[in-house]
Amino acid sequence: MVKRFGYQEIRFPVLEHTQLFKRSIGEVTDIVEKEMYSFDDRNGDNLSLRPEGTAGCVRAADQHGLLYNQQQRLWYQGPMFRHERPQKGRYRQFHQFGVEAFGMPGPDIDVEVLQVAVMLWQELDLSDYLTLELNNIGSAVDRMNFGLALTEYLQTKEDQLDDDARNRIHTNPMRVLDSKNPDVQAALVDVPSLEDFVNEESKQHYAELQDLLNSANIGFRENPKLVRGLDYYNNCVFEWTTDTLGAQGAVCGGGRYDGLVAQLGGRDVLACGFEIGVERLVLMLDSLEKVPQDAMQPIDVYVTCIGQNVTEQTLDLAQAIRESQPQLGVISHCGGGKFNSQLKRAFNSGAKIAVILERDDGESILESAKIRRLDDSAETASHKITEIPQKVAEFLKNSTS
Ligand code: HAM
Repeated sequence: MVKRFGYQEIRFPVLEHTQLFKRSIGEVTDIVEKEMYSFDDRNGDNLSLRPEGTAGCVRAADQHGLLYNQQQRLWYQGPMFRHERPQKGRYRQFHQFGVEAFGMPGPDIDVEVLQVAVMLWQELDLSDYLTLELNNIGSAVDRMNFGLALTEYLQTKEDQLDDDARNRIHTNPMRVLDSKNPDVQAALVDVPSLEDFVNEESKQHYAELQDLLNSANIGFRENPKLVRGLDYYNNCVFEWTTDTLGAQGAVCGGGRYDGLVAQLGGRDVLACGFEIGVERLVLMLDSLEKVPQDAMQPIDVYVTCIGQNVTEQTLDLAQAIRESQPQLGVISHCGGGKFNSQLKRAFNSGAKIAVILERDDGESILESAKIRRLDDSAETASHKITEIPQKVAEFLKNSTS
């Protein structure tokens, strides 16, 4: 689907120099401070398993010259690693699908990027269960000024904060805003608002983005508390959230990160993108019973094999059925055993019919096999092996008509 938007796949390794993540995600973020799997390799280089895709994507795209004086739309997918406390929807190894667009100032490209997600939600029939939350977090300078004001404010409330919040007063005061502690939240009632520190250009970008979203019929909700846990963002940030998953309700997160390419040593290349948490998406599909049909191919035929030296013919026949009837799910019995236990497995597989290959000792290659309905009728018919694929399809067709 993403190819229809002109995106090209980019691949990059799961291991990168730790410094890449520190420089992009930020030293004083939960991901870098607490969640990375980092170690020294044999050369003494400190490496980390990638906790997200954007940093590696930028590094690889820049290194391969993809960001040199050109616009790029790139996509990727793969495993990411964060040492978080595992719970439903939060894993130490999980998968992200990401898109990143480079070289365009927006807000048109911001909307186009969001349209990729919108189309995916539509295709998966999830649109009704996801809300797009938006915020404008301004530039790094805006946030620095806001941070100073926030530090000043938090100092006046120090006795109402918990240890975690107190530790962040000088290092990353914005993260205090996300505190789950109700006492800390109570201390934040008169807290300065980031909105008051955002520069005019960002405000204009954000207003235009909202206009474009409205005309593209993409619904959204402004969430002034949405700051995201990665430092590289500027201007608009967003998350698609759901209340179908309990605590881990963020399914997709992203935004603009206009300074990152230059910050990592590249040219001044503007950028925006998002990543989807694949496991959360699957959990959502599961909980809403919307697993796409082709993700769960039902088994139609179970091929059993009784007797000596029949394995080769069983594998051949099962494969012949798959090749001649591509719509059917076919299992060939493996692991031997008596007929009754094979039949039990056939029933348990959910197959509608069993094909029975039975060869007595000394018998030469089998010419015929039986087709047996796996229902109370136990209707059985014998056919030439070469006709079995066709007969199987007819048998199944008759049972559905
Ligand atoms: P993020 O919000 O940290 O953003 O992660 C994106 C998505 O990955 C989340 O919304 C969530 O669905 C999933 N996710 C994150 N951590 C876990 C976990 N421990 N277990 C399962 N799923 C998880 C980023 O990573 C940014 N790089 C997104 C981006 C791309 N921004 C611009 N371009």
